[in-house]
Amino acid sequence: MPKTDQHLSAAPERLDAWSNADGVARASTAFAEAYGQQPDGVWFAPGRVNVIGEHTDYNGGLALPIALPHRTFAAFRRRDDGRVRLISGRESTPWEGLLADVAPGSVTGWSSYVLGVAWALGQAGQPVTGFDVAIESCVPYGAGLSSSAALEGSVAVALAEHPDWVAPSPGSDEGRAALAAACVRAENEIAGASTGGMDQAASLRCREGHALLLDCRDGSIDHLPFDLAAAGLELLVIDTRAPHALVDGQYAQRRATCEAAAATLGVATLREIDPSLLDEALARLDDDVARARVRHVVTEIDRVRGFVDLLSAGKVREVGPLMNASHDSLRDDYEVTGTELDVAVDAARSAGALGARMTGGGFGGSAIALIEVGEADQVSSAVERAFREAGLGRPAFLVATAAGPAGRAD
Ligand code: GLA
Repeated sequence: MPKTDQHLSAAPERLDAWSNADGVARASTAFAEAYGQQPDGVWFAPGRVNVIGEHTDYNGGLALPIALPHRTFAAFRRRDDGRVRLISGRESTPWEGLLADVAPGSVTGWSSYVLGVAWALGQAGQPVTGFDVAIESCVPYGAGLSSSAALEGSVAVALAEHPDWVAPSPGSDEGRAALAAACVRAENEIAGASTGGMDQAASLRCREGHALLLDCRDGSIDHLPFDLAAAGLELLVIDTRAPHALVDGQYAQRRATCEAAAATLGVATLREIDPSLLDEALARLDDDVARARVRHVVTEIDRVRGFVDLLSAGKVREVGPLMNASHDSLRDDYEVTGTELDVAVDAARSAGALGARMTGGGFGGSAIALIEVGEADQVSSAVERAFREAGLGRPAFLVATAAGPAGRAD
């Protein structure tokens, strides 16, 4: 049956999170089957949704993610012989080799995210001596919801439960920030994605019931109560299922343009551009594309400030226009949306969302819509209808709540 007929009558597809017990059972079973013994334990890390503040992290800016209840589970057993064995329920290729052989350029694919974390922690002076891992995950894959950071984070917290771990303790936020930094190095230097660090901070440093206000200039954070239900609202995530990849050059290109513009403007990062002086800064750039990229970054950082002010004043019902402006800026100035994301956002807005925007890196992936409690089915059906009419594939949906950070699952 062609894709477009398939969703004529079916109810919108929901992407449910596994319970903790389910995740533990799946990962431990896979571990025992693969390695013939029990793991030391099971650790997890969540995916994330960024509420606002996109493509700001590598510009020293502000972002406001929440952790999802969707988690990656790592059943883990330490070894002392320097060997590493990895399997994942999502991947057909296992990995086996020596940790000492892992270096920039030596590994590719999914295992590079895991091996990269071990490599980066070893580089940071932590005791990493080899391990066996079995991964199971319900974080939607390639959906812009940080399945990569969840994979990295789950292994980072497992490795950190070592008796000789060097301070700061992984139980402290300082320790979590150090783990997040290692995950970023893994992604940048071993996996080859020049991402900015928001995803890893969200997965490791969030707090349940709160959004994480992340200041990427100095890595400082603030936990802001994020109780949409109290305001009669919820956050619908639309996984457009349009392929999303951050290693294909487009993301790196955006980052390079921003860094070059900052150099031209004589600032360390675009964060240093005062929004009230934006026009003056733009006039000093001689390229239309660079001007548009800078305009996005500077206005987006300011939208995060506006969002936080409303949230802190108990006015979360008023944030919709900021979300809409964020999407429009990512579409027109940053050019990272694409047909599926634009159709999803337009349809959600027409179906009554207070605001809607893409979330994450873009180029496919997911959008979010702020909606009235109880309207998820109606808005999902409207988005699904719009996809059908536009001849696009079938999207999937989940309602996001602000969940807790990475930790031990069993
Ligand atoms: C991806 C990257 C992040 C961030 C977002 C865009 O998720 O991994 O570092 O740059 O895109 O906000």
